[in-house]
Amino acid sequence: MTSRPSIVLVLGDITYQHADVIVNAANSSLLGGGGVDGAIHRKGGPAILAECRALRAGHYGRGLPTGRAVATTAGELAARWVVHTVGPVYSREEDRSELLASCYGESLRVAAELGAETVAFPAVSTGIFGWPMDDGARIAIRTVREEAAAPVKEVRFVLFDREAYEVFVTALAEAD
Ligand code: AR6
Repeated sequence: MTSRPSIVLVLGDITYQHADVIVNAANSSLLGGGGVDGAIHRKGGPAILAECRALRAGHYGRGLPTGRAVATTAGELAARWVVHTVGPVYSREEDRSELLASCYGESLRVAAELGAETVAFPAVSTGIFGWPMDDGARIAIRTVREEAAAPVKEVRFVLFDREAYEVFVTALAEAD
């Protein structure tokens, strides 16, 4: 039996992470935005956007659907690939948890196909898309526990502020 990939929590900016894959909390246009997405494109340089435009010109002419993931170069970032995923916008009326779980599951699947051993995630959907951090953290950790598999050895959640970091610490402790 192979051992489960480890889950590591980090306080910081995901664009500085040394990991095989950095996951981007993108939108379906794949053409950039604010938050993590803006930071990744700013620091990664134009090569990332060029590949995103090529994806839009080809297979994803109508955009990347919510809950799906696709890889590009990481450009000038200290990572080998960026995996772009589109989180759901939070809704009080509709339970979109499966779409959020799908972002993590699909990103891990794409990362594994690439041969990635280390994958760094932001807390998808918990910024501009409004998902409550505690629920987002539970979904993230549960899905990674269930779906991370070889060759992925380490999944790192990179939390942007101390409050988010503490919420993930609690969610991870409760999941053990
Ligand atoms: N490193 C790590 N975490 C970050 C960073 C960073 N550099 N910057 C922000 N966060 P968000 P979303 C945290 O808004 O909610 C974009 O415009 C942030 O505090 O980046 O999925 C896209 O184009 C929050 O906890 O992503 C989409 O339109 C988490 O990362 C939309 O925003 C996610 O915040 C996606 O919204």
